[in-house]
Amino acid sequence: MKKIPLIIDCDPGVDDAFAIILANSLEELDIKAITTVNGNVGIDLTTRNALLLADLLDLDCTVARGAEVPLVKPLREKSNTHGSDGLGGCLNLFPKEIRKELSKEDAVTTIKNILMDSEEKVTIAAVGPLTNIALLLKLYPQVKEKIEVISIMGGAINNGNVTPCSEFNFYEDPEAASIVFNSGVPLIMSGLNLTVNATLTEENLNEMKAIGNKLSEIAVPMISDYISKDAAIHDPCAILAITHPEMFESEDLYVQIDTREGITRGMSYADYRSKNTNPPNCKVLTKMDTTKFREFIVNSIKL
Ligand code: BDR
Ligand code: CA
Repeated sequence: MKKIPLIIDCDPGVDDAFAIILANSLEELDIKAITTVNGNVGIDLTTRNALLLADLLDLDCTVARGAEVPLVKPLREKSNTHGSDGLGGCLNLFPKEIRKELSKEDAVTTIKNILMDSEEKVTIAAVGPLTNIALLLKLYPQVKEKIEVISIMGGAINNGNVTPCSEFNFYEDPEAASIVFNSGVPLIMSGLNLTVNATLTEENLNEMKAIGNKLSEIAVPMISDYISKDAAIHDPCAILAITHPEMFESEDLYVQIDTREGITRGMSYADYRSKNTNPPNCKVLTKMDTTKFREFIVNSIKL
């Protein structure tokens, strides 16, 4: 089977961890790199967590450290949604020693090199704040034609989780999100309006527990802690949007991000007006098959 070359830019983060676990389980994908960004926890921890996950899954791919701070916004205090370790308080379940070596090159250089060296177009799943991706597109605009699509978990149409209007990833770095949405690169957006449906049932958790392998022993406590704080497992949606588009309904829309100070900072909005003359810049996912989503998550840990 011809595999889709994929780079995962993320801030693990429990649902980021599940995006990586899911991507690793899908035969359609060839993970070329995991790149990290400040987000759910600081860059030292998102990077350590990416290395731990690469070890856990025996991933043969580059892991590179990315942006420590947003483009413009000052860093803010972290919430406890993903635990202070970013792993739902489950750091102690991972081996103490990290085997995977961190790339000597930073995330942006790593992504640029993979794209420019690739004969085919490469897909990017971006499931954290878009700082690395914005820097990439600004510093190396020549990469744009090497990107198949950027599948983003971020934003929302008509709701928010950090503020009434803004979703976490876009709120953390609104300027970066705005750069990406005005880049001309094909985008898929799994926003909160979609990902609030990405949930697991008690029965799913029991099924996962019953698998009883090395991965489930870490993954189940991790996701159980996370679900108790944020019911939705957002980030894996951006992976399934690449491999199983038939699971989703979507609309091609013109989407922008508000970068102004105030209550709407970081808000994403779509122009539904019939008189809108701006061409669509994004495939916005609007509905998903939650039963299929649950099946994929449960199966992803049957390694
Ligand atoms: C997004 O924010 C983070 O907490 C999650 O990892 C996800 O990427 C949801 O708003
Ligand atoms: Ca994330």
